[in-house]
Amino acid sequence: MKKRILTGDRPTGKLHLGHYVGSLRNRVRLQHEYDTFLIIADVQALTTNWENPEQLASDVREVAKDYLAAGIDPEAATILIQSMVPQIAELTIFYSMFVPVNVLRHNPTIKTEAKQKGYSELMYGFLGYPVSQAADITFCKAHLVPVGKDQAPHLELTRKIVRRFNELYGEVLVEPEGLYERLLVGLDGNTKMSKSLDNAIYLADPPEEVIRKVKMAVTDPARIRKDDPGHPEVCTVFTYQTEFNEEFIAELEPACRAGKIGCVECKNRLAARLNEMLDPIRARRAYYEAHPDLVDDILQTGTARAVEVGAQTLEEVKDAMKCNYFPRKAVMSG
Ligand code: TRP
Repeated sequence: MKKRILTGDRPTGKLHLGHYVGSLRNRVRLQHEYDTFLIIADVQALTTNWENPEQLASDVREVAKDYLAAGIDPEAATILIQSMVPQIAELTIFYSMFVPVNVLRHNPTIKTEAKQKGYSELMYGFLGYPVSQAADITFCKAHLVPVGKDQAPHLELTRKIVRRFNELYGEVLVEPEGLYERLLVGLDGNTKMSKSLDNAIYLADPPEEVIRKVKMAVTDPARIRKDDPGHPEVCTVFTYQTEFNEEFIAELEPACRAGKIGCVECKNRLAARLNEMLDPIRARRAYYEAHPDLVDDILQTGTARAVEVGAQTLEEVKDAMKCNYFPRKAVMSG
């Protein structure tokens, strides 16, 4: 049997290059090697967007289209909607009995997000979403979780929860490994590309938009004229070149340092490369945009499979916890 991957995203709009580098690219690469589950974490999106739940219906579909556009094969991967798999909610409750509140309070990703959002008081669901994320990962007994580095504290908590559960009740859950990717810097040089910082290039951006955004990206501030020597190590555009245009680096780096290539040309080369990479993604997206019923079908089929897998895990979890009070009804006859 293949090992399993589970990873996913909050549906808060379209996905960007940060998601692509951080995890999407790995998922596409590994989807045939692993039994891949992709969760669209709509309940987790509510931890910050509870005032706009009506947004979810379209955001869930945008994320699904981005997955498919990026090259996720619906025949190979299972795409599921978090709120429609009740076993995830049930596991969250069981786990919450033995996760200390202080551990959650000290979670660095929670702290950063709370600060970014300007929260003066923490909601129960927001503080607890790493517990629910542990349920996301364990309902299908995932072995591998490809995610951006910012998710490491959540995965460490998941591993702790699994160890604790297995120690308390018996070996039922699988302890997952993380497959971490570095975060992509934003166009503004901010350490993380993110929608809320408005420094992102979206997978669905049209070519002109990509060109416009790359033009605005920050470069080496010490370089004013074209023939000033450049400092690639402080240049955001150079970081993107290393990420997306590796073949160009051997030529670019010395030319930049010697002031022989200007930022305008360098940016043109980057935008052209990004558009070349995004073209097939845009073409697949256009196909799914034209076939919304197909997207809904993929989501419903994937979610139904997830519910089946989750029900199996919940049986085992409740057996282990001695919380299955009545004999199971025989499902198989004969
Ligand atoms: N917290 C993740 C993010 O913000 C999204 C997510 C939800 C996730 N559930 C998950 C990632 C399970 C990996 C595994 O990007």
